[in-house]
Parts: sequence; structure tokens; C-alpha cells
Amino acid sequence: MPLSPPDPLPNSDLSHWMLSPGQVYLNHGSFGARPRAIHAIQDDIRVGNEASPIDALVDQMIEALPAVKSSIGAFIGADPDGIGMVQNASEAINSVVRSIEFEPDDEIVATTHGYNAVLQLLRYVCHRTGALLREVPVELPAHDAGDTVDSVLQAINERTRLVLIDHVTSPTALHIDVTSIVQHCRQRGIDVLVDGAHAPGMLELDVAALGPTWYVGNLHKWVCAPIGAGFLWTDESHRDRVHPAIISHGYLDGYAAEFDWQGTRDMSAWRAVPAVIDWMEARWGWSAIRAHNHALACWAHVHLVEAWGRDPLTPLSGELLGSMAALRLPEGPFETHFDDHLALQRHLRHEHGIEVPVMDWGDGWLIRVSAQLYNRPEDYVALAHAVKSIAESL
Ligand SMILES: Cc1ncc(COP(=O)(O)O)c(C=O)c1O
Repeated sequence: MPLSPPDPLPNSDLSHWMLSPGQVYLNHGSFGARPRAIHAIQDDIRVGNEASPIDALVDQMIEALPAVKSSIGAFIGADPDGIGMVQNASEAINSVVRSIEFEPDDEIVATTHGYNAVLQLLRYVCHRTGALLREVPVELPAHDAGDTVDSVLQAINERTRLVLIDHVTSPTALHIDVTSIVQHCRQRGIDVLVDGAHAPGMLELDVAALGPTWYVGNLHKWVCAPIGAGFLWTDESHRDRVHPAIISHGYLDGYAAEFDWQGTRDMSAWRAVPAVIDWMEARWGWSAIRAHNHALACWAHVHLVEAWGRDPLTPLSGELLGSMAALRLPEGPFETHFDDHLALQRHLRHEHGIEVPVMDWGDGWLIRVSAQLYNRPEDYVALAHAVKSIAESL
């Protein structure tokens, strides 16, 4: 169990980030946040786009994309030819799921910890095709990695056409052992999509060794790239079967051509990615960033569990955590006092200067804290006090 928080990395405090000072920002997980230097990288690209739109958006973009994909490929351990650029994880997952021709007897397996927008997409596809969505409950508290794996594997049967599993779950911040699930699916010839929206920059990735059919990632969360940088990696055997959610000029010209152009859009985030990955490596180093954030999340988890006197949802060792942790609120009539969980989230923002997501998790509300380089132990201490003082005032 971690007893003390990690030392901050040099030159990492809030003044180096675009976040406004004076707020306690514990929600890196939702949309990321960017250092000032990264904002400047994208600004330069945007200025170039406006100076000469045809050259910048067509010729320069065509020239830049191989380097963008090589940089991402090296970062996630995957073949760059399998990378299709998208704006976000939602777009990537839409591309895959809407490319599959589901039959009425087919089944899709996902968990109840899946991201709501993704589960909505699966419901939509099932509604249109008659396929069945099996939403596998994963019990909380989770005691070890095997809990989730067993629940998912038990839901797979001969009708399963697709397994969609999160690498790190959004509402509950569980780092799932996707390796065992992927291996099992591949042995049975079942396609498996790993939703790694939170994973790049949080976990060390080796997508080739993992070997899923598809791996989806966001770079605007934990890589701190500009908003609008996501990717879909597809195994070679499936590249001619998946099309982007937006069909454009490149239709049937191959995976790369189909994803490279999806209509006029701001692609400055994509173009910034190689410089962002290199800048973060040169400034702090990716393994140091991951190690710091994990250690801080583990420390914050223990601190909040102790401060609020609730049983943890995951082991205090932090073995199921990446750079986020989800917890139950302390005892208190939160749910009768506030209209809904978002009202408490807004109250924390406006009355206490703390930005942190509050989730409605069926049998109670959860708070999910993130740990990024700009966070300090006192941020979590402030959250612990604020939530306790709210509870006492109700
Ligand atoms: C697990 C997971 N999947 C998918 C998404 C969707 O990401 P985006 O909104 O960037 O499409 C998120 C967003 O937080 C997520 O946490």
C-alpha cells in the first residue's frame, strides 16, 4: 500500500498547462488537458491551414499522415498500416460496429462498465439488426483481475460475434486484464474490439502482442494531444472489411485511403500528434509520466477511502488502477438533497472550485478522480474535505 505520494516531475505544475489557475482539476480522464507548449504546436498548424488551405489540408496532410501513423504505431506497439485516423473513440467504434453485418441470431458481449455512448451504439446496432447485446455485470468491489475476465468469458457462447471490452473502464476506472479475454476470443475465432479510449499515455501498450481484432484509442486524453485525435487499429486480416463511419472519396481504395479523407475537417490535432509524443518524452519521459500518475492515483485512492470511511471498490494496492480511481461518497443524504449526480458535480465546481466527475452507479453515486502531472496531493485533500463538509451540511 503506498504510504506517501510520488514526487512531482520537474516543471509540471499548473502554470505549464492551459487549465485556468485556482481550480482543482481532477477530471483529466474526460477530455484530457494540454500543456501550453502543445497548444502552441496546434496553433502553428492551424495558422498554416488558414494561410494556404488547399496546400495545407490536402498536399501537406497527405505528406504528414505516414509520419503521424508511424509515430502512433511506435507508441502503441502496432503496425502503422493498421492505423486509421479518427477524431475520437466514438467514431472509431462506430466505424467497426457499423461495418459488421450482424444477423438476428448474433450476440455482442460487453460489460455494464462500458462507456454509455458505446453501449448506446451497440443498442442501436442490435435494434437495427436483431442481434442481441449481452451486457455482462461486473461486480463491485472487484477483488482481482480475474473477476472481470471470468464474467466476460462466461457470457461468450457459439452465437457471440463480437466482444467489446474496455481496457480502462470509464465510470469505475477499472484496469481490465484484456489479454486473457483477447486470447480466449481469438482461440474461438471471435472478433474482439478493445476500447482503449483511456489507455494510450496511461498504460504501456503493445497492441501487436495483445493481438485483438481492433484496438481503439484516444490521444486527447492521457497523451495530452489536442482534442480530435483518435485512432482505430485493425488487424491485417480485417482491413478490407472495415470502413470509416463517414464514407468519402476513398471508398474501396483500401483501408488507408478510406480513413485518410473523411470530408473537410480540422485535422490539426492529427498532425500535431508526432510532435506531442516527442515533446512529452523529451520533457518528462513517458515511463516517468505513467509511473507518477499511477502512484498518485493509488495514493489518492487510499487517502479518500480513509477520509470518507467507505469500503474501496478496488484493492488498495492499486493493482486494478491506472491513473484514475472511483470511490463511493461518504455517508450522507446526497441523493435526496441534490436533484441528480450532475447537480453535486456542479456544486463542487461552483462552490468549491473542484472539477471532478460524479457518476450515478445504480446503487449509489461514485466519484472518479484522475491523476495527471499537474495534480498534487493537496488537490485530493481539498476534495476529501469539500465532500465531507457538504455531507455534514445536508
Ligand atoms: C471507455 C471509453 N470509450 C469511449 C469513449 C468515447 O470517447 P470520445 O468521446 O472521445 O469519443 C470514452 C470517453 O470518455 C471512454 O471513456
